[in-house]
Amino acid sequence: MAPRETCIGSVLCLMKALVLSGGAGTRLRPITHTSAKQLVPVANKPVLFYGLEAIRAAGITDVGIIVGDTRPEIEAAVGDGAELGLRVTYIPQSAPLGLAHCVLIAREYLGDDDFVMYLGDNFLVGGITGLVEEFRANRFDALILLTKVPDPTQFGVAELAPDGRVVSLEEKPKDPKSDLALVGVYMFGPAIHDAVRAIRPSGRGELEITDAIQTLIDGGRQVRAHLVGGYWKDTGRLEDMLECNRTVLETIDRSVRGDVDSSSQVLGRVVVEQGAQIVRSTIRGPAIIGRNTRIVDSYVGPFTSIYHACHIEQTEIEHSIVLEETTIRGMSRIEDSLIGKRVEVAPSTAMPRAHRLMLGDHSRVSVAGA
Ligand code: TTP
Repeated sequence: MAPRETCIGSVLCLMKALVLSGGAGTRLRPITHTSAKQLVPVANKPVLFYGLEAIRAAGITDVGIIVGDTRPEIEAAVGDGAELGLRVTYIPQSAPLGLAHCVLIAREYLGDDDFVMYLGDNFLVGGITGLVEEFRANRFDALILLTKVPDPTQFGVAELAPDGRVVSLEEKPKDPKSDLALVGVYMFGPAIHDAVRAIRPSGRGELEITDAIQTLIDGGRQVRAHLVGGYWKDTGRLEDMLECNRTVLETIDRSVRGDVDSSSQVLGRVVVEQGAQIVRSTIRGPAIIGRNTRIVDSYVGPFTSIYHACHIEQTEIEHSIVLEETTIRGMSRIEDSLIGKRVEVAPSTAMPRAHRLMLGDHSRVSVAGA
């Protein structure tokens, strides 16, 4: 089948974005029992915002956001999108029934426009502008992004023909046909709508986008792949979140807008945001200290992001992410940790001395010494 008409410069060639921000987030529990995983901050900016900014940078302004149980929180953070230069429409999903289900329920919003589908918890360095241009110039029915991964069994995996056509796609295959995994950004033309209607739920009960794309391929549609050169991460797990945070912090420039007292040291690439106070402490970059956060008699080590309005006292913390309004006192050393909002961590003072815990379901605690 010939590629669809090209539309460079045509006003008819409107492109929208569909950003997936529902889901269950089981791998990031307990954070996701109460919060949206797409709002976990990477270098003090919700991961979702990196995607929305990349969409805007590619010249797309109309964005449909799929939301589930965490809709209020997503809406409070993104609003109508005006601050990001976007026009946002929220599309509620009754349950996380799969990526292709998101396309199905967005049918009316998307109309017959081309669109980029962006997984709201995915982190892609380098943006999508080149990709959008490639798609617009060629009018494929689908353009997928691929990246080489060490363990393809955890991903959607693509098999390519020597000329670059996509031959097959498989979700989490036991016996992968390549090491090329699907990155969570896809471009689609309107043919995808028939494809998502044609498929049935998979063994895990979801409408899989890989099955819908396979339906396009089997129907002789133009499905092409683009290998991403830059860094990509699905931030589904704690380790991925910390790795993303590290990657972004490695690129920050030093900027100290908060107060640093004369007994403190702020070393290297450190961002101290407005209203933050550093008292008798050492911050060794790369690190970021959020608005109105107080760091007192503490050490904040490399690759640490402390979000807004936290209080860190007599504590050493490194290679960690702390969410807003959390208090940590008297902890000799915290590493490799993701600590939620409004959490309190402090030594026990009452007798008998003991660990006293109130932890959400699926919490993980690793205590140093007894
Ligand atoms: P996933 O990470 O594949 O799924 P999940 O959010 O359910 O997480 P977990 O595997 O840890 O349980 O989802 C990718 C993105 O798409 C994420 O931002 C959530 C979103 N999503 C939806 O909005 N609706 C859906 O039906 C699904 C499956 C995901």
